[in-house]
Amino acid sequence: MAKFIVEKAGPLHGEVVISGAKNAVLPILAATVLTDEICTIYDVPRLRDVDVMCRILRSLGKTVEEDYGNHTVIVSGSVNTSTIPYELVKKMRASFFVMGPLVAKTGAANIAQPGGCSIGSRPIDLHIKGLRKLGAKVVIEESLVDASAQQLTGDLVYLDFPSVGATENIMMAAALAKGTSIIENAAEEPEIVDLANFLNKMGAKIKGAGTDSIRIEGVESLHGTKHTVIPDRIETGTFMVAAAISRGNVLVRNCVSDHVRPVIAKLIECGASVSEEGDGIRVNAEGMHLKATSVKTMPYPGFPTDMQAPFMALLTTVEGTSTVNETVFENRFMHADELSRMGANIRVDGRTATVPGDKRPLTGAKVVSTDLRGGAALVLAGLVAEGTTEVGEIYHIERGYERFKEKLNQLGAKVIRVEDPQNDQ
Ligand code: UD1
Repeated sequence: MAKFIVEKAGPLHGEVVISGAKNAVLPILAATVLTDEICTIYDVPRLRDVDVMCRILRSLGKTVEEDYGNHTVIVSGSVNTSTIPYELVKKMRASFFVMGPLVAKTGAANIAQPGGCSIGSRPIDLHIKGLRKLGAKVVIEESLVDASAQQLTGDLVYLDFPSVGATENIMMAAALAKGTSIIENAAEEPEIVDLANFLNKMGAKIKGAGTDSIRIEGVESLHGTKHTVIPDRIETGTFMVAAAISRGNVLVRNCVSDHVRPVIAKLIECGASVSEEGDGIRVNAEGMHLKATSVKTMPYPGFPTDMQAPFMALLTTVEGTSTVNETVFENRFMHADELSRMGANIRVDGRTATVPGDKRPLTGAKVVSTDLRGGAALVLAGLVAEGTTEVGEIYHIERGYERFKEKLNQLGAKVIRVEDPQNDQ
């Protein structure tokens, strides 16, 4: 187990380059199951979750070459088993993304249920409902999900909630189904569009990705392709907030401003200056007196739930009292307690948190990453807290932020990573 020691730093300055999107590359890697041909994926971030997905592909019989010097992953070969080992599934919920492609390609998939996680129960009922609608027989016994289908057939799938993972899983399965599928109330996230683009390059016929109705005309087979993953909009937002919380001036490069509109809007509401420059976004909060705002998380294009924790860290440092309403996950405020240990005094009532502003500065404390984005929020708070902040259990952060410490330090932060033998598991 490792931890970050974060010292108070001044305003962050300079440029930071954003990596490829974790949440785009995971389903794209899963989609390589749909072909026996070579898929080359560029701008792949070096992350624990990506590594787990590569191990899943290998366990299924695929050959995976990871060349992180060039941020490239090449996947080739055929799947020779339909079982995904439990040790891998338990490491990452997104393992379940392989279910749809595996049933579509091999006619069967056996996978352990991903189970709950720290941000809520996160059921998989919508994934299963969708696969059943396409004709798969899905049996759930104890913690195992067993899906089978001689041939999936296209149908109308209505999602009760626009789940990102369910939309992706069903879209991948439908790509090889017989006939046409329509996903209604589909998720509209940019990562879905990236996956659809990848599948279409493989020969799939998908229209409407990025809207709430996706139409997939099934094809008989898919071929290999090359694809560059979109930039990570949550990493982008996190560095935008890092600039604002430190009252710095940072150019966040290699990002798509359209993907972070709600974060831009909320930073401007707080009083920061945000401008688009070439392939980047500049956030300038130097010498500024930022003020409170309200934030409500929503499916895309609303304010992303993954930005809620980092933004809450910022709101502890502004003038006035803010409210944060989490509508996507039922239990995504664990970082509020940790921020309160640093003096933030946040009150949580159900899905709403009340965040008092900067009556007094945050103070360094020993805190624990409770999940990926919550962990990042604590590091951001540590940048401005008086004294030293120790952020434990940073494996959560390393699941989803490539070279987080290095990128922050390049901007003037003081973050070091130490192994924590007392906390070894
Ligand atoms: C993805 C992202 C995650 C992000 C989330 C919401 C990846 C790898 N992860 O997660 O970073 O926070 O989208 O933007 O892309 N739900 C059900 N039944 C289901 C599936 C989901 O009730 O079958 C519920 C969940 O419990 C949750 C909500 O739908 O309350 C949203 O979940 P979903 O969009 O599926 O998130 P993920 O795809 O797991």
